[in-house]
Amino acid sequence: MSKNLQTKQKGQILAVKDLPTLPGVLHKVTALVSDPDSSIDQISKAISKDQVLSAKVLKMVNSPIYGFPGRIGSIQHALVLLGFNVIKGIIISTSVFDVMNENMKGLWEHSLGCALASAAIARALECKDPEEYAVAGLLHDIGKVVAVVQLPESRAAIDALVKDKDLAYRQAENEVLGFAHDRINMWLSNHWNLPANLKEGLAYHHRPMSATLYPKIAQVVHVGNFLTRVFEVGNGGDDQVSPLDEGVLEALDLSPQLLHKVMAELEHELVDLL
Ligand SMILES: [Fe+2]
Ligand SMILES: [Fe+2]
Repeated sequence: MSKNLQTKQKGQILAVKDLPTLPGVLHKVTALVSDPDSSIDQISKAISKDQVLSAKVLKMVNSPIYGFPGRIGSIQHALVLLGFNVIKGIIISTSVFDVMNENMKGLWEHSLGCALASAAIARALECKDPEEYAVAGLLHDIGKVVAVVQLPESRAAIDALVKDKDLAYRQAENEVLGFAHDRINMWLSNHWNLPANLKEGLAYHHRPMSATLYPKIAQVVHVGNFLTRVFEVGNGGDDQVSPLDEGVLEALDLSPQLLHKVMAELEHELVDLL
């Protein structure tokens, strides 16, 4: 693939602000957050103005994934308990997945499953802020969605390769586009100004040992993604269980006993989630 074509496609992907459902409130709230003088009250008011979005965010933060099931009554409360980056990730996820739910069957369920699994692993390992691991799991395949929405002509070619050559979705993306959703995740994270830990979780979930600043979050999402495929929750676009990098279990100090404990827990929770 020529460099020029790739640059053009990157430009098309980053025209993602044109996605009809990405709410203006995201931009406004991001600006508020970068201003040290703004308060949680101002930020929650800005989000609450969009009632449809607020309802979706509240539904999401009250799911068992984030550790406070049914206990969060307002956007303000959600911001205090989960922090702005988690809420921002949730706003992005609901907005983007809204466009594409019909486009990629099962990817939303796969993403929810990965969020739950990533949070469960983070809790088992006693990581700080497990909700940030959850939101990284939620967003880990967002590049797949944005690519097919922004580059609709690539969709059929990717699907055909997955089907006819039995390729993994990521390999097919690489053949058709010259890059895959993990690279797109890096561009999007920069574009949306996501914090470095979420960026690494999203961009390195297939190559977790290459993450430099926050390898742990990339490793946890990697295992979360694997478990979601093992449990066959939703669909990531192909029929393959993405290979588990064995070095990751060691790096995380995730013993077989602890992994089995997480899996036993997930077996029930994943059923309740969907
Ligand atoms: Fe992925
Ligand atoms: Fe995935």
